[in-house]
Amino acid sequence: MLKFRITLLLSVFALYSHSQTCPILPTPAVYQTTNGQFVSSGNLLIDPSNLTPNLVDAFKSYALWSKGIEVSPFVQNPMVQFKKLTNVKQDSYSINIAERITISYSSEASCFYAWVSLLQLSSQQEGQLSFPKCFVKDYPKFQWRGLHLDVSRHFFTVAEVKRFIDLMAYYKFNTLHWHLTDDQGWRIEIKKYPLLTEVGAWRDSTVENHYSTLPRTYNKTRYGGFYTQEEIKEVVAYAGARFIEVVPEIEMPGHARAALAAYPQFSCSGQAQGVEGLWGIFDDIFCAKEESILFLQDVLKEVLPLFASAYVHVGGDEAPKTRWESCPKCQAVMRANGLHDEHELQSYFIGRMDAFLTQNGKKLIGWDEILEGGLSPNATVMSWRGYEGGKAAAAQGHYVVMCPGSHCYFDHYQGRGAEEPLAIGGFTSLEKVLSFNPIPPDMSTAEAAYVLGAQGNLWTEYIPDMAQLEYMAYPRAIALSTALWSETPTSYENFLSVLTNYHFSFLETQKVNFSKSCLKPNLQTSRSENGGIVIQKTAAKGIIAYPEIIAQIKTAKRKTKTVLIKVDQGPNLPTKEMNIIAHKALGAKIKFSTKPSPKYDNGDLTIVDGQLAARPWKGNEWLGFDSDSVSFDIEFDKPIKVKELRIHTLHDPNSWIWAAQTYNISFAKTGVGNGIADGYSTVETIVIENIKDKTKTIHVVLYGVGRIPSGNPGAGNVPWLFIDEIEVR
Ligand code: ACM
Ligand code: ZN
Repeated sequence: MLKFRITLLLSVFALYSHSQTCPILPTPAVYQTTNGQFVSSGNLLIDPSNLTPNLVDAFKSYALWSKGIEVSPFVQNPMVQFKKLTNVKQDSYSINIAERITISYSSEASCFYAWVSLLQLSSQQEGQLSFPKCFVKDYPKFQWRGLHLDVSRHFFTVAEVKRFIDLMAYYKFNTLHWHLTDDQGWRIEIKKYPLLTEVGAWRDSTVENHYSTLPRTYNKTRYGGFYTQEEIKEVVAYAGARFIEVVPEIEMPGHARAALAAYPQFSCSGQAQGVEGLWGIFDDIFCAKEESILFLQDVLKEVLPLFASAYVHVGGDEAPKTRWESCPKCQAVMRANGLHDEHELQSYFIGRMDAFLTQNGKKLIGWDEILEGGLSPNATVMSWRGYEGGKAAAAQGHYVVMCPGSHCYFDHYQGRGAEEPLAIGGFTSLEKVLSFNPIPPDMSTAEAAYVLGAQGNLWTEYIPDMAQLEYMAYPRAIALSTALWSETPTSYENFLSVLTNYHFSFLETQKVNFSKSCLKPNLQTSRSENGGIVIQKTAAKGIIAYPEIIAQIKTAKRKTKTVLIKVDQGPNLPTKEMNIIAHKALGAKIKFSTKPSPKYDNGDLTIVDGQLAARPWKGNEWLGFDSDSVSFDIEFDKPIKVKELRIHTLHDPNSWIWAAQTYNISFAKTGVGNGIADGYSTVETIVIENIKDKTKTIHVVLYGVGRIPSGNPGAGNVPWLFIDEIEVR
């Protein structure tokens, strides 16, 4: 009887507060449905009385672009009415869909967000437009919800940038960080310095393949482009109409080779060099002399009036101090201003820009290197090398935008398959992006108040065109916007279900070249109970399936062999091939004395899973250590015969990763083997042969290069040490 009553109660409740799947992304705070649909067979008629004419225009064009819906004003008997609210949470809105649609909003932006949500709720069948009867209440969690777009490494036309903005608006982003200048191209017209675009916007060659692939080859086609000031204004207005603020970035003092190709007098050496065609970090940066500072302030003078944003980004990242150290003019500036080192000189340089921008009513934002040598009084910090810079800035009472490489770099790989298009490296899955929280767990509430929000960064070295840009940005951008907008975290399963059921079709209609890597099955390698490994296939989460065992591979008893495994990934996806080296330590226990960095800790099995990591490296196939030596034991269940050991490490100086240089390996019987990695510093595999040992434990210590030698990217820092398979034969 009791059971019956509860059932009855539940079904009555269900009638009034149906909690059906909400199709809106980012997920709104409240979504409740009642039964039925609101249906319209013609245009969507709105009452414009409480809307500005600009908003009405934006509604019309955006509805047409996103859903092909025609909107007409109609005061007498409208389908949609608007109500302005006061004294409510910033940018909050609600939508009530019953016999009529009522949108209540607090700000013009929130009215637009409501409109976007309404469009996401709409569906069209046989000429009829319908909306589920429901109630939505919503507001953003963070106020900076951005995407960054690098147009220097590859150029995107005004039309392409507008399309990028239209897509951003559909997911309630409100900030476009436009990276307009870098070593490989200057992209904004500056009338006082015409050579910036006449010379600086064009390069004679572009490196092909991954820049760490040697020998390098170049595409010799002249490449470039730039935006006139009129075009910049057009983009800013277009974004503004969609409630997106465009923040320009004029990089300084580093990443300046395109500008210096045009005006070499503003470098330290004064020597003419071309616009760079290789990716990376370059020693020639703006000289810190007064003339260079005034030149850049002149540039900013023309940039500021083009943008409506409060913020102006001045870069500040990856500026080698090599030239400054030996430049008499830079050294004189240091003496005159009582500066102790070149970091303080950079701080002085940024401080001059801060003062200039503040005087002109703007706010400076820069990459987290602007903390080095002292943070300028009004600066906001964009934290990219992890959360640390952001934490330090917040502790000093400065505003912060988070974009740690671990979660926010959309130039990283998103799928594990070899068929993924070439990317810079790293692995940032859709699931990881969704799990992102701009507030790290060890931040106090007071400090967290300084975190404005976050953004996804699209560096375009390996993104040559719009199709590839869309592939790298979508669907990860939707996961990011959900992480930044939605107060209550959404589970990955729910997110994926809404994404695939409602948003993939939208993206397809818009002909967006989005990635479907999140649908590929997961291939998981784990230790087998009686030695060796087992490879299992699980369908993508939310697409639900039980794990299927693909292969079980035993540890080699005597001879090492390679096993080829073919995995069916499903319809329209390529068959995946895996080569597994069945060696004697396959699936062996690993005991670390040095812990891998959490950034590149893919589990200890990574180094005994029989799989060699591909190159260019991806984040998920290695164990990365941020220490100069690494020590661990390989343990077997019982003593085994060992003849040969092969240790694979990675050498990629451009990424600050240096192969192990020396080693110290001890076996039970043969004793200690010391050695220098053959070919010093460039050989990635250490091979130790002629061992005759029966051992239960192999103790391995690998030593890195210490500090990165001068003349290399990141010189003076402790490099990363990356290890992959340890083959025991
Ligand atoms: C950066 O990725 N160099 C900010
Ligand atoms: Zn100088």
